[in-house]
Amino acid sequence: MLILGIETSCDETAAALVDGERRILADVVLSQIDVHRPFGGIVPEVAARAHLEHVDAMVAQAMAQAGKTFADLDAVAATGGPGLIGGVMVGVMTAKAIALVANKPFLAVNHLEGHALTARLTHGIDFPYLLLLASGGHCQLLAVLGVGDYRRLGTTIDDAVGEAFDKAAKMIGLGYPGGPQIQEWAAKGDPARFALPRPMKGKTGCDFSFSGLKNAVRLLVESLPRPLCDQDVADVAAAFQTAVAESMADRTRRAVDIFKSRWPQGTHLVVAGGVAANVALREKLTQLAAKAGLTFLAPPLKLCTDNAAMIAWAGAERFRLGLTDPLNFAPRPRWPLDPTAPKAAGAGIKA
Ligand code: KG4
Ligand code: ZN
Repeated sequence: MLILGIETSCDETAAALVDGERRILADVVLSQIDVHRPFGGIVPEVAARAHLEHVDAMVAQAMAQAGKTFADLDAVAATGGPGLIGGVMVGVMTAKAIALVANKPFLAVNHLEGHALTARLTHGIDFPYLLLLASGGHCQLLAVLGVGDYRRLGTTIDDAVGEAFDKAAKMIGLGYPGGPQIQEWAAKGDPARFALPRPMKGKTGCDFSFSGLKNAVRLLVESLPRPLCDQDVADVAAAFQTAVAESMADRTRRAVDIFKSRWPQGTHLVVAGGVAANVALREKLTQLAAKAGLTFLAPPLKLCTDNAAMIAWAGAERFRLGLTDPLNFAPRPRWPLDPTAPKAAGAGIKA
């Protein structure tokens, strides 16, 4: 089996080829970070135009890297949502055109399903497992039960965690994207100098919230002499990172308890998304997984952040089950993995 995957739902234009034996034959990613950096965040219209400009070349590059032609494909998969709709349309239209011309089935893949199934591509693990998806656009705890079968145990009631990292970084004068910079500065800081809240800690359920913490950082920064000296930047970064990691560990611990009681045969706690790169968070998750008797698993970073190999792989898993999509599939800006999940308490749910 050979599947071409295309990912254009956020700020990466990506194409990849994956086969049924979990081999990645090509995996190319063009990041738009430099295009969006001057704006301090992703501008949807700018992203859509950049995808349009580069997607053909990325597909061609992936095909050449793998030494394959469209005739060799079994199906063409593209992210069908959720995401920035202009970008999703570019990827979906490209995939449909290839599918039509090469006479291959088309697969519309849920971007979140791509993240959710990556651990099966990289490590071949069995269902069920518990997934913490922590990125710039999403913050969810999911029981992954099978292809197309997910239970959302928790989600954010306001910002995604990566968004919180990016906004906190901006407030203390660090560039975009903020997560890696906060981590770097936090390593030189004292996490105990400033007291910041641990959002949702101790609350029932597994939902996340970051807007209160973001506000607390804003008030803290306003109380400090400007411009912030290096030590202040490092200490605020350390306090923020610790607060996020502790809050997320608390939420995940609750999800682990629920997961273990409902699906006792599960053996893994998996992370995905750009924030999975954070060492402070990883440390906490490793500890809590060990305590709960679960194996902690983080796919290589390149496959944790947005990429097309995960889309091709999710496509492969769906194709194997005969789950192809018609060419009149309409891109979906919102597309929850678990349509039965109750809405979280706040507004602004992402998927
Ligand atoms: O998954 P991703 O590459 O893109 C999507 O949002 O889909 O995630 C990007 C997010 C950004 O918000 C970035 O600041 C955050 O991941 N991030 C980090 C780290 N590296 C990237 N956050 C905390 N610590 C890091 N080391
Ligand atoms: Zn993503």
